[in-house]
Amino acid sequence: MQDTAAQVPIAQDAAAQKDGHGGDGNFPPHPGASGWQASISQEDFDLVREIARVRAGIVIADFKRNMVFRRVSKRLRELGLSTVSEYCAILTGPYGEREIQPLINALTTNKTDFFREPHHFGHMAKIALPRLRAQANAAAKRRLRIWSAGCSSGEEPYSIAMTLADSMSDLNHWDARILATDIDTEILKKGAAGVYDIRDLKGIPAAMRSRYVRTMRADKTHFSMSKMLRALVTFKPLNLLDPWPMTGLFDIVFCRNVVIYFSKDTQRELFDRFADRIRIGGLLYIGHSESLYRVSDRFKIAGQSIYQRVR
Ligand SMILES: C[S@@+](CC[C@H](N)C(=O)[O-])C[C@H]1O[C@@H](n2cnc3c(N)ncnc32)[C@H](O)[C@@H]1O
Repeated sequence: MQDTAAQVPIAQDAAAQKDGHGGDGNFPPHPGASGWQASISQEDFDLVREIARVRAGIVIADFKRNMVFRRVSKRLRELGLSTVSEYCAILTGPYGEREIQPLINALTTNKTDFFREPHHFGHMAKIALPRLRAQANAAAKRRLRIWSAGCSSGEEPYSIAMTLADSMSDLNHWDARILATDIDTEILKKGAAGVYDIRDLKGIPAAMRSRYVRTMRADKTHFSMSKMLRALVTFKPLNLLDPWPMTGLFDIVFCRNVVIYFSKDTQRELFDRFADRIRIGGLLYIGHSESLYRVSDRFKIAGQSIYQRVR
């Protein structure tokens, strides 16, 4: 669907997630202020999307010009600028490098939910974790490593943590850790804080909510993830295009709704690198609209958008 500024009402909640459907939490700077220019030229659009492609792997289609304008507008407002051209002059100027991360933060689509694509968590609880348990050496503290790559504001890694805690009564006998990474350094702060609005919690099953979600004392509309969940998850900034500093293999990787914005070549390289980092027999969960068909032959299909590393 064509995504035009005219069709999409501008959300007033600046903290709202950029959801990929035009429902950005950003709004233009000083609409009506003198010099304010409510558009982005083709040249500036091309510059911004080239930065997104080269730096983050994110390919932005022609029809997303208005979406890019809305997202860049947030930076214009923060920097007190009136036109995207002024902003692009900063990007191409001597201090342009400093503006790359804020620009990437503004451009990323962060839509996520607790227990999004719930069949993955069912598969984890009923198939993946019992299999890991069966393979575990009874004597040693079994190492369990899960990576949520492109974790956005944390709903995905906390859903993984709740699934782990709920289905493994002996979790404290495991050396279990969840790594949660994202290129967007701003959205990661929300995950690390582990505090969510009451409206964000709707995907969490009631029983899990009572076990793992705590009401904030000062503010009854916000809820925090329990200490136990937060101890399981570590949030780190990581651009998937960059070298990965982690050592050791993962048992399970979630990389869902991230590569839809990447070219096929970038996807091929990325899934080859994931295969190198997942142990043989380990699992990869991807988004419902993503596929490894003609992308990687190092996994076999193990379920709906679920893959198992075979080589
Ligand atoms: C649509 S969200 C998906 C969140 C979660 N995985 C889910 O499925 O609910 C995509 C996330 O991928 C992140 N992302 C995009 N490009 C990235 C890159 N090159 N490296 C790391 N993360 C990236 C974005 O910042 C965003 O938070």
